[in-house]
Amino acid sequence: MNVGIIQAAYVIAALLFIFSLSGLSKQETAKSGNIYGIIGMTIALIATMCAVSSGIGWVILAIIIGGAVGIYLAKKVEMTQMPELVALLHSFVGLAAVLVGFNSFLDPQQFFQHTNIKVNNLVEFAALHNELIIHLIEIFVGVFIGAVTFSGSIVAFGKLNGRISSKPLSLPFKHYLNLGAIVFCIILMIIFLDSADFIKNTILEFMQSLRNAFKGTGVESTMENGPGVNMTALICLVLMTLIALAFGIHLVASIGGADMPVVISMLNSYSGWAAAAAGFMLNNDLLIVTGALVGSSGAILSYIMCKAMNRSFISVIAGGFGTDSKSSSSDEEMGEYREMQPNEVAQVLKEARSVIIVPGYGMAVAQAQSAVSSITEKLRGMGIEVRFGIHPVAGRLPGHMNVLLAEAKVPYDIVLEMDEINDDFPNTDVVWVIGANDTVNPAASEDPSSPIAGMPVLEVWKAKTVIISKRSMNTGYAGVQNPLFFKENSYMLFGDAKASVEKVLQDI
Ligand code: TAP
Repeated sequence: MNVGIIQAAYVIAALLFIFSLSGLSKQETAKSGNIYGIIGMTIALIATMCAVSSGIGWVILAIIIGGAVGIYLAKKVEMTQMPELVALLHSFVGLAAVLVGFNSFLDPQQFFQHTNIKVNNLVEFAALHNELIIHLIEIFVGVFIGAVTFSGSIVAFGKLNGRISSKPLSLPFKHYLNLGAIVFCIILMIIFLDSADFIKNTILEFMQSLRNAFKGTGVESTMENGPGVNMTALICLVLMTLIALAFGIHLVASIGGADMPVVISMLNSYSGWAAAAAGFMLNNDLLIVTGALVGSSGAILSYIMCKAMNRSFISVIAGGFGTDSKSSSSDEEMGEYREMQPNEVAQVLKEARSVIIVPGYGMAVAQAQSAVSSITEKLRGMGIEVRFGIHPVAGRLPGHMNVLLAEAKVPYDIVLEMDEINDDFPNTDVVWVIGANDTVNPAASEDPSSPIAGMPVLEVWKAKTVIISKRSMNTGYAGVQNPLFFKENSYMLFGDAKASVEKVLQDI
């Protein structure tokens, strides 16, 4: 197909991706944002297929297999498993960048086919030489980011689905190990680029093939066939890849449970930069733009989440949060807790004038959102003010609670963010915490030695009565005990969230 049409399709797809991101930033427009993204990706796939000059059968086969696996996973995956699926998908982007990098290195002819530089004289030769050096930097950096993303995402996947312990790995001198790995990779890059013979020979090889193809075009020959791939450069690339893989594993393994949300969005950002690097290697503008969009939106999300957890990005990357559970005292030290039965909860709710429901991961796993929505409707019908308080990292992925509540038809305008509702707790009669734990832990603001100290939380304990629905006295994701359960105005409603909420609904 005409190159101009393909480029135009790429520009349209890039615009649709931008619309998609802007749509996804608000609940009301999230659906149309998704649709823009789907149309953009369809255009991008068709345009890319049209640009393929050979092996189209392989591309179609890959699309069919990839599409089938994607549809199967999308149907099967639970919302609570989304972060681990996303982590796995990030690892594919990283692996793709590594493979593209090695391919570009082993078969540099592909790169020359994309450059518009004609080698007719020395000036053009120098330009091609510079382009090649830039291309080699792209390969080295792209493979590095890709390998870190690949191995880091695999570890994140293991941590999120519980196959790898969420406890942070704490190797001695871990920061020096990370620093050493980066410095060593920089040295390898210098040796890699300094393989002057390799660069010269690759250009000569290219010129030779040009000469053979276009005899008499002015490319005069004092050239020999180069050896193709320089062993020193290849060894540098392989060594760097191994170091980057180990670096990725160490980076994510040393991050503790409570910081995992930031790690996921950080890996999201890395996968974007890996895709952008692949775009540079393949000279594909759309891949560069898309990668940059994913990379920067992931970075912005990481920043927002760090702010929500009152953590600096550097300290998250440096790892170790949630390591020492010095302050996670046992239940006996915390005192007595009291229980309520579903009929008592129903009574307390009916007598309240204002209720705030605080959902968390437990509501999502129990799939209790529909019953919660029905209770909300019933209480509002009785003239009781019901609102929802959503913590930015409630659940297992950003916006998790908002999506579940929207699906269960809870009106958007009563679902409020932490900052919008935190001041209202002292004037609230009843707070009902359903399957949330870390996000309502007063230790974050009251106990400076707590691993979650400083993380902003929903100050539910300031309400007149607090009811907490969960199955046991177990800790939440961060592994920290919660003094809220032992406060004088707190009552535990034990049992699976769905069953408990349905019983309360019946009693109301
Ligand atoms: P958590 O602190 O994980 O607490 C959830 C609580 O739900 C648990 O204490 C559990 O107690 C209870 N639960 C589990 N299954 C239940 C069921 N079927 N019925 C009733 N209760 C059930 O959740 P949270 O307050 O939403 O906090 C989120 C945590 O996850 C934070 O630490 C956050 O950093 C982390 N995280 C967040 C994300 C994002 S981006 N949001 C991603 C990864 C991790 P029982 O076992 O006693 O029932």
